Amino acid sequence: MLSYQHIFHAGNLADVQKHAVLAACLSYMTQKDKPLSYIETHSGRALYHLDDDAAVKTGEAQQGIDVAQAKAWFAPDHPYMRVLADTRKAHGATAYPGSPMIAEHLLRDGDALHLAELHPQEADALRYAMPSAHVYQRDGFETALSITPPTPRRGLMLIDPSYEIKSDYTTIPSFMAKINKKWNVGVIVLWYPILTSKAHAPMIDELKRSFPDGKCHEVGFPPAREGHRMIGSGLFIVNAPFGLHVELNKISQRFATLTKK
Ligand SMILES: C[S@@+](CC[C@H](N)C(=O)[O-])C[C@H]1O[C@@H](n2cnc3c(N)ncnc32)[C@H](O)[C@@H]1O
Repeated sequence: MLSYQHIFHAGNLADVQKHAVLAACLSYMTQKDKPLSYIETHSGRALYHLDDDAAVKTGEAQQGIDVAQAKAWFAPDHPYMRVLADTRKAHGATAYPGSPMIAEHLLRDGDALHLAELHPQEADALRYAMPSAHVYQRDGFETALSITPPTPRRGLMLIDPSYEIKSDYTTIPSFMAKINKKWNVGVIVLWYPILTSKAHAPMIDELKRSFPDGKCHEVGFPPAREGHRMIGSGLFIVNAPFGLHVELNKISQRFATLTKK
């Protein structure tokens, strides 16, 4: 039974980290004039409206993308800001692009998009928002294993579960090892929450052992509301595009201003 809906959290600080890094990766990767594949295991609906009751109720976007914009964390020509501006031009001032829409904007003709989303309503909305993508209303892990290595062979996979199913923490390292074995050139980007319980720690320890060259990027932030258990978010990146560390350092500096005493 799936109860997680990303509209409650769209545009929050975790999305800012994930979407800025995703946009930077794809921007680096599309500098080369060779086609690529984008695969996403947990896609969501791709287009959000931050005046939706659910988003207003949590107020997370106000603490996230609104703060990043007010503080000019990203230059207007940063790929994340370009996609945000294009999305708002096309869909209104409160629109916010999810990761599939960010990818679609940055990819070129000849690149391929494969998007898995299990929730029936989210999958319908995803098909509607992304008519030219391959949308799979199936388990994202199974889908990813069945379509790797993709054609074109260069590419990026985003793994962005909600961690509603606690076993995700224990199954993800072996899933990523299988994907990497089938697709050794693929860039793999895993998102995870940093909770007060530190539930992510054993998973990241295992990933560091399996992928000693993997990049781990973690940011801290104040909880969205009192008692909220998420106090940061992380990305583990396998085969990170060359030069990404520059962008990661800048993002770390911006987030550090939120928790500085
Ligand atoms: C965190 S949200 C995705 C947000 C999106 N990646 C973004 O950044 O815009 C996770 C999504 O995964 C979906 N989901 C949950 N379990 C799934 C599974 N086993 N396979 C595919 N999708 C799943 C949920 O319905 C939800 O829409």
